Amino acid sequence: MDKTRILILGGTGEARRLAAELARRDDLEILLSFAGRTETPAPQPVPVRIGGFGGAEGLADFLMAARYDLLVDATHPFAERISANAAAAVERSGIAAIALVRPEWVPEPGDHWHTVADIPSAIAALGPAPRRVFLATGRQSAYHAEVAPQHFYLVRSVDPVDPPLTLADVEYVLDRGPFTLEGEIELMRKHRIDTIITKNSGGSAAYAKIEAGRLLGAKCIVIARAPAAAMRSVETVEAALEAIDHLLSPAMKRGV
Ligand SMILES: NC(=O)c1ccc[n+]([C@@H]2O[C@H](COP(=O)([O-])OP(=O)(O)OC[C@H]3O[C@@H](n4cnc5c(N)ncnc54)[C@H](OP(=O)(O)O)[C@@H]3O)[C@@H](O)[C@H]2O)c1
Repeated sequence: MDKTRILILGGTGEARRLAAELARRDDLEILLSFAGRTETPAPQPVPVRIGGFGGAEGLADFLMAARYDLLVDATHPFAERISANAAAAVERSGIAAIALVRPEWVPEPGDHWHTVADIPSAIAALGPAPRRVFLATGRQSAYHAEVAPQHFYLVRSVDPVDPPLTLADVEYVLDRGPFTLEGEIELMRKHRIDTIITKNSGGSAAYAKIEAGRLLGAKCIVIARAPAAAMRSVETVEAALEAIDHLLSPAMKRGV
């Protein structure tokens, strides 16, 4: 019997966990797709492909040529282009699909949040007086900080920021989540951080910095998500597994 083929667009811990769960089933053939941004990708439980598809059209062609049965968009909530492409490719190919999107973080009592639309607005929101900033938005966008050199920046990323920033007062820490509360408190105390800049990524792996900020009284400048691409979505790996079962049920496949 032909196996059911599932393409997972990944780059998140959830994509990896979902792939690991689906890999247990011998009626499924899973392929996990990465953009190729990380120099040393973590080991994965299923076969992997790396690199873009060439836009929505390229992705639709890829899905149809290899006769995929289902697409799961489990990319990061801030990976907006690939999610828009995925929604368009689903429309074009008519393939079954779901998006796995973590719920957003919401401020809790004791949090000092200032929500902005993007990273340049986050840097502007630091204001003129020098601050000690934990810039936890990844290496690709860190250069935006160069317009406000009066602040100290602690820049955390998986791979080095290259080229390094043209800032006088900057330190780099290379690390990948999940992060612990103890670790985040230690890091923030060591660098006397008073302001965190973070995307509203959601999920647990990166949440510890928000908790640490709350406990240390740091201000948190939070970059809001853009509206999600139009695709049926679930919030957890468990819900994704249920939705996949439903979408692959014989009745659904027959369009009943
Ligand atoms: N943005 C973040 O904050 C963030 C954080 C953690 C992890 N990530 C992960 O890093 C990857 C890149 O993020 P991004 O924000 O640069 O993406 P993006 O701006 O949405 O995508 C840019 C292009 O990269 C390619 N691409 C992205 N994800 C892909 C995937 N999983 N498989 C194959 N091609 C992919 C696509 O190229 P083509 O148009 O040529 O197909 C896409 O048009 C994503 O897979 C995401 O899950 C992103």
